[in-house]
Amino acid sequence: MQQGVAALSSVPVVAAVAPRPVPTGKAGQVHRLTLMVETRFGVQPSGQVEKKLERIFEKASEGDLCEWVDHMSGLPGTDSEWLSLVESLTVHETYFCRDKPMLRMLRGVVMAQLLERKKQAGNYTFKIWSAGCSTGEETTNLVMLLLQALEKMGEATSNINGEITPHPRWRLEVIGTDVSRQVVTTAKNAHYADFGMGSFRDFSEKNLKQFFELVVDVVDPLPGVKYYRAKNFVRRHLTFRQHNLLSPTPPENNCDVVICRNVLIYFQDSVKRSVQELFHRALSQNGALLLGGPDVQYWPDRYERNFGDGGAWYVKK
Ligand SMILES: C[S@@+](CC[C@H](N)C(=O)[O-])C[C@H]1O[C@@H](n2cnc3c(N)ncnc32)[C@H](O)[C@@H]1O
Repeated sequence: MQQGVAALSSVPVVAAVAPRPVPTGKAGQVHRLTLMVETRFGVQPSGQVEKKLERIFEKASEGDLCEWVDHMSGLPGTDSEWLSLVESLTVHETYFCRDKPMLRMLRGVVMAQLLERKKQAGNYTFKIWSAGCSTGEETTNLVMLLLQALEKMGEATSNINGEITPHPRWRLEVIGTDVSRQVVTTAKNAHYADFGMGSFRDFSEKNLKQFFELVVDVVDPLPGVKYYRAKNFVRRHLTFRQHNLLSPTPPENNCDVVICRNVLIYFQDSVKRSVQELFHRALSQNGALLLGGPDVQYWPDRYERNFGDGGAWYVKK
């Protein structure tokens, strides 16, 4: 005990920081819920998340809310009640050809190198995991890039309509995952509306013609809006699945590329670190990890860092 006090007395004195008052009443219940959302889904407790929750529970009484929060505390993150709630708290913004310099680098350098290496080794499988894929635009884009990279190296051919078919020895798998059931359903459905700030906001006519076809049987279409889906030669390489990045296991192993962009920014540092542990496990040796521009890579010893015109990518040692 004496020793403990002595040790404490040598600790530099730091100005005491008043702890943030824990909210009470309904705000207190919302705060409890925010913390539970964080442990189950990584979504950082922020004023914005609390505001969204306050809006959702505007009409509930404090007693009802308290009872419901108690009930939720006993449910795992895989329960449908949690999954319904998290739909409204996550940001699903995405579109085709988001960050063109990165996509060009991915196709022209990262994929080109990895595909060539696999070809040399006589290994004709190529697997990509797009983590936090939202409604699937990023994942679909990855198939387009992969087919173009294969065509460039003479491992795929295209017909007069621009449909690219890889040499039959290749097996391509591009898997998009997201915690939200709703966006995964939309990604599987693959009907993308073409309007102002929608999925095609930065997509060329040439790409639209080559990779997409008009959908005529849309249920409840927006008036005057055209809908497109990727052509079958793209869709046949795509899979979408629900997966929480806070799960102990990745949805896939032996991936050649793992890409996770505009997702980790919503997580606390400790969560980012453990999610990146999952990426490391999902990657095969020499596989490449691509993160968003502002994301820090937490395991530098495990990767060789490369840098190109579209940013950084990390090759698993
Ligand atoms: C802003 S979108 C990014 C979409 C795409 N990667 C892009 O860059 O365009 C972020 C996505 O991350 C998903 N997400 C958030 N927390 C997640 C978690 N714990 N596990 C899996 N996905 C999560 C959200 O549901 C959302 O669809």
